[in-house]
Amino acid sequence: MDTATKLEFIQALPKVELHMHLEGSLEPELLFEIAGRNGLKVPFASPEEIREKCNFTSLQSFLDLYYEGHKVLCTHADFKDLAYAYFKRVSVTNLRHAELFFEPQEHTVRGVKMEDIVMGLTEGCELGLKEFGITSELILCLLRHYDVANMMDTLKAALPFKQYIKGVGMCSTEIGYPPTLYTEVFQFAKDNGFRITSHAGEEGPPDFVRQSVEILGIERCDHGIGMRSDPAVVKLLADKKIGVTMCPISNVLLKVTKSIPYSPIRQYLDAGVMICFNSDDPSYFGSTYIDENYEAVEKEMGLCVAEWVKIARDAITMSWVDDAERASLLAEVDAVCAKYGVAV
Ligand code: ADE
Ligand code: ZN
Repeated sequence: MDTATKLEFIQALPKVELHMHLEGSLEPELLFEIAGRNGLKVPFASPEEIREKCNFTSLQSFLDLYYEGHKVLCTHADFKDLAYAYFKRVSVTNLRHAELFFEPQEHTVRGVKMEDIVMGLTEGCELGLKEFGITSELILCLLRHYDVANMMDTLKAALPFKQYIKGVGMCSTEIGYPPTLYTEVFQFAKDNGFRITSHAGEEGPPDFVRQSVEILGIERCDHGIGMRSDPAVVKLLADKKIGVTMCPISNVLLKVTKSIPYSPIRQYLDAGVMICFNSDDPSYFGSTYIDENYEAVEKEMGLCVAEWVKIARDAITMSWVDDAERASLLAEVDAVCAKYGVAV
């Protein structure tokens, strides 16, 4: 297959996004619009100034700017508009299904109601299905810079909205916050029927990935690139079929890896770890959504067609869709392969 056809094939594959923070898709223009209607002053002169500040040296340097952005989101309409804007942007990417993080603690701490967050986002997700045919689920993402008591309170406050929240994840600063601190939190989430994932091994060591698997019981690992130096942990994830939601552009821009080819994509493929590519916080990374992540990996690494088919299938396999939707998405991959004469 020539290069142009291969890029077209990659674009045509049905996509599933499993690692995207809704607050990380707040484009600077929408941030200003929402701040304006809420009568809030923001510490930036213009959307361009926010974009200029997106020049990060580490995960923490990103998080400091990112949590500033959270502060404009206050009402049901704000959360609805946030989710809707994401679906509108990705409707051109053949995205079929998304499992989307939201971070209530940075909102409830300012007095925003859990109901407005969850029901606003749910309305945006319903519009995403109605207008663009994209199915979705919400994942409540706990923030490690809050204490365990606050995490437990947050989960309890979310229980009345359980039917709208598929899973629980965890993110924010990693160094200094080992997974062992969160046993009780994740046990509570599991006992209440939530699916479980966590950011682990973004800046943290392989042991943080191991602990997340063995102690927290994660079903997916978000980022996971930090385990690359310990083949035993890589093998653990391959053996247990715990997929890694990789974010190639994010990892380069947050200086977690030197470049996309230098990240462990090749290593994980060869070790039989399930992987998929995701956008993480697209609006803070130069408006790079899932399509740009797929394209960047192809342009910089040139994976073979069979590997792209495997990645499209892995994303579907790792997702939390029901059996019927999984079968239908896998059949769509087969149909695209047939169209391009790719043997399956
Ligand atoms: N919150 C949003 N994006 C994140 C990332 N890449 N790592 C940790 N926490 C995050
Ligand atoms: Zn993330």
